[in-house]
Amino acid sequence: MAVQGELAGRVALVTGASRGIGLAVAEALGGAGAAVCVTARDPEGVDRAVAGLRDGGVRAIGVAGSVADPAHLRECVAGTVRAFGRLDVLVNNAATNEPRGPLMDIDPERWRAAFAVNVEAPLRLVREAWRAGMREHGGCVVNVCTEAATHVAPHLGAYTTSKAALLHLTRQLAGELGPLVRVNAVSPGLVRTEMARFAWSGGSGEAGSGDAGGSGEERAAGLPLGRIGEPADVARAVLWLVSDAAQWVTGTDLVVDGGTGVRRAQVP
Ligand SMILES: NC(=O)c1ccc[n+]([C@@H]2O[C@H](COP(=O)([O-])OP(=O)(O)OC[C@H]3O[C@@H](n4cnc5c(N)ncnc54)[C@H](OP(=O)(O)O)[C@@H]3O)[C@@H](O)[C@H]2O)c1
Repeated sequence: MAVQGELAGRVALVTGASRGIGLAVAEALGGAGAAVCVTARDPEGVDRAVAGLRDGGVRAIGVAGSVADPAHLRECVAGTVRAFGRLDVLVNNAATNEPRGPLMDIDPERWRAAFAVNVEAPLRLVREAWRAGMREHGGCVVNVCTEAATHVAPHLGAYTTSKAALLHLTRQLAGELGPLVRVNAVSPGLVRTEMARFAWSGGSGEAGSGDAGGSGEERAAGLPLGRIGEPADVARAVLWLVSDAAQWVTGTDLVVDGGTGVRRAQVP
């Protein structure tokens, strides 16, 4: 856990931060003293997030747009630097779990669109951040992946494959950008957010956790830690990765899944 106020003077950009894990990350980084820029497509969602952060005493701005749009990504970094003078922490959190379905049936255009959001946008943002000053003063990048990226998930092949690419991009960038910039991944299991509602609200087993489906309670009962995740569980991991406590950590993947992997390894 970061020491209180540890991120004072630092500036963070969190994509997809109007709700869910991204908002919890923005709150955690802001709570540790960072100034924060949040993004999402819906301008009202961005405004709500910024207002909530400011109410909590966080210096915050928002930039609305899709990470699929390179011009928006340039503005995210430029706007952050205009407002706060620098950019030290980048959290690539925005993602899509569409299109769903067997890979044999997925439209190539929609496959490319998923990779544009889940893989290309994180790389573009790292490049913008690097050029905007990280290559001189250093910084931290965290890519939000998924524990499902390392196994086969029915109906989510575009998502899991793109997240596996993001996981390797994390390692590759860690190798290329050290020693000044640390690049890590955090891989959540099932977390109670909108994106995963179909999974924890009693869905069809498409959660990406590779199991047979069921309600949140049923899924929780099968986990060693007895509950599905909350956004703050992931935010605490991100906070640690960008804090000085993790100063000798780069190119790694911090899995935060309540023991999902352990359950999967159990002999039935
Ligand atoms: N929840 C889980 O169980 C789970 C598990 C493993 C990994 N993850 C990962 O955690 C991250 C956050 O997901 P979440 O569960 O917190 O989802 P969420 O609650 O649905 O939030 C997604 C956020 O991203 C924004 N967003 C979506 N598409 C965007 C785009 N193209 N450009 C910019 N912003 C966009 C959304 O706002 P707008 O709709 O207004 O754009 C929203 O702020 C994702 O990378 C996801 O893959 C989640």
